[in-house]
Amino acid sequence: MGAKYELRGDVAVITLDNPPVNGLGYDTRRECSAGLDRAIDDAAVRAVVITGGGRAFSGGADIKEFGSPKALAEPNLHSLIRQIENSPKPVVAAINGTCMGGGLELALGMHYRLAAAGVDIALPEVKLGLLPGAGGTQRLPRAVGVETALNMIVSGEAVKSDLLAAVPGQKLLERVAADDVVGAAVQFARDKAAEHAAGKPLPLVRRLEARHRDPDAYFQFARNMVKGMAKNFPAPAKCVDAVAASVGRRFEDGLAHERELFLGLMMSPESKALRHAFFAERAAAKIPDVPEDTPQRKIAKVAVIGAGTMGGGIAMNFLNAGIPVTILEMKQEALDRGLATIRRNYEAQVKKGKLAQEKYEQRMALLAPTLGYDDLKDADLAIEAVFEDMGVKETVFRQLDEVMKPGAILASNTSTLDVDRIAGFTRRPQDVIGMHFFSPANVMKLLEVVRGKATAKDVLATVMALARKIRKTAVVSGVCDGFIGNRMIEQYFRQAGFLLEEGCTPAQVDRAIEKFGFAMGPFRMGDLAGNDIGWAIRKRRYVEQPGLRYSKTADLLCEMGRYGQKTGAGWYDYQPGRRDAIPSPQVEEMIVRQRAAVGIAPRKIDDEEIVQRLVYALVNEGAKIVDEGIASKASDIDMVYLTGYGFPLYRGGPMCYADTQGLFNVVQAMKRFARNPHDDQAFWQPAPLLARLAAEGKSFSA
Ligand code: NAI
Repeated sequence: MGAKYELRGDVAVITLDNPPVNGLGYDTRRECSAGLDRAIDDAAVRAVVITGGGRAFSGGADIKEFGSPKALAEPNLHSLIRQIENSPKPVVAAINGTCMGGGLELALGMHYRLAAAGVDIALPEVKLGLLPGAGGTQRLPRAVGVETALNMIVSGEAVKSDLLAAVPGQKLLERVAADDVVGAAVQFARDKAAEHAAGKPLPLVRRLEARHRDPDAYFQFARNMVKGMAKNFPAPAKCVDAVAASVGRRFEDGLAHERELFLGLMMSPESKALRHAFFAERAAAKIPDVPEDTPQRKIAKVAVIGAGTMGGGIAMNFLNAGIPVTILEMKQEALDRGLATIRRNYEAQVKKGKLAQEKYEQRMALLAPTLGYDDLKDADLAIEAVFEDMGVKETVFRQLDEVMKPGAILASNTSTLDVDRIAGFTRRPQDVIGMHFFSPANVMKLLEVVRGKATAKDVLATVMALARKIRKTAVVSGVCDGFIGNRMIEQYFRQAGFLLEEGCTPAQVDRAIEKFGFAMGPFRMGDLAGNDIGWAIRKRRYVEQPGLRYSKTADLLCEMGRYGQKTGAGWYDYQPGRRDAIPSPQVEEMIVRQRAAVGIAPRKIDDEEIVQRLVYALVNEGAKIVDEGIASKASDIDMVYLTGYGFPLYRGGPMCYADTQGLFNVVQAMKRFARNPHDDQAFWQPAPLLARLAAEGKSFSA
């Protein structure tokens, strides 16, 4: 695996061969380079074509090599491009498929390029908080014009080959070949070899000029635009700077500037966070003891039990993926209500122009409502989303066990109940699994896949693959109260409560954590989700663990009937029909009374303490979750928080953030918090994993 070499008459064809996308890993670069040498040395060869095997030309850097010394080993991408540019024989790119990042930079180093129709071409580095670092920011503007190049580099989005070929004056593509782009490139290379035989120099993109009518005004405008759009990410602005350096400067100077900016971004916490998230997402799909080739069960038809808030959203995920759904309720009116909500959701999308009327109708046609379990018997998967009550779950699972065909998967969407107990209501616990969706289930990316004691490996593998099909990020969790996400968020809310008692207002806490980057602070979040949910959990929790310390403010709030937006009042006041959170004097009085009742003299608390107590509460509980094997790795916890809880992407998730702060410092902060008499001292004992890593000077990611 690397690159293949063949002769087609007097033209050498080098085919990049590193599935799945011909990433430019060490072997591929080395073999491509060797092929080039061989072609140049062979007197019978007059020109070279470089193309990609399979469906891609090249997807760019080989992600398997990221951060390893192999990524930089010679020939590195720069050197390979240089070698191509210096070839005395014409080198022609036959862009047969996806051409991205380093793949495009490689092609830009060749003398000519032909592309197949409809091929995606992109420089997506910005999506990892980087910029193209092998000349892309200097060559692309020279090839397609400054504005087209900047749009591509700042957005990272792909543009079709046909569209690029139509850009006036472009020098990127000689032409788009209707079919057999390699054959066309071979013929083209042969013609060019004859043309250049007389000594006419080979064209190089680096020799072109990048021009703009009014570069100063244009780049200023671009900087302003980018600043507004990407305020927490430095890369887009650096992309503008790099492209600006392609105009009116020597190519080599621009290249040096690109290098400097690239290295700066490589070290930035934002890029580290984005790369971490990129790898964490891939890692989440891998389960240590479930091999990738584990057989999967076929899921052609799905049943959803309960057409409430969650059931409706869950059903939509499958309809969107073209999978038929039968949805069951106990009573006709509940069924009608559920269906009406699904319709309303789709109609809103149609109105906004996000969904074609015809697609809406196709999706609804896949949905079959029913009141009888008999209609579920040919489903391959049933997902239960009925009331959060063990008795109700028991009735449902016993009925499912009766009617579902052998081998069907039985899933529960429970957010707090014991999946092992639920599995025990059936005669097939190996087929039972938790599929914990987040609300709104048709929107939120996260799916916690809860693996029970008895859950079969092929059931797990099937559900993980299915999650990809319905475009969810699936993370496996073991069975415990709250699974990964909610178990951690409970500690976060507990800290938020202590902060109120010790001197904060809800608005102050929310503001601090929102400034940190959370989409929504704990109190606005509580008002949105309904404070009564946590109330119900606390009633149970503090009966089970009577000694556990927590602030009663949230209970008092619920006793006032302030459940949140749905009752028009929660931690904040709300005006009818609006969602703006208005600080409530009544709530502040309640907090003051509560402080007096528990004998706490309020103090001024700064934003740093607020953020650390909230975020490190997540970190410590997260470390316990890894310790206990509920999550198989720390990066899974980051995925849960990035995709399900609005944790800021540019910080990479709580565990990644702790790494960037240094685990030694995190532990030190916890020791400080443990000395606060109004906090829960026991909680702040660092989890064994965290204590060990901090003592060894290591990080979660290592
Ligand atoms: P919901 O109250 O909106 O919907 C439950 C639906 O189940 C109702 O339409 C009800 O008529 C129906 N139902 C009750 N018993 C039934 C039975 N025996 N057979 C068939 N249908 C029955 O509740 P929601 O919020 O949709 O929650 C459902 C499940 O999802 C619960 O287990 C909950 O813990 C879980 N969950 C809820 C989340 C949320 O944010 N609301 C998030 C993640 C999970």
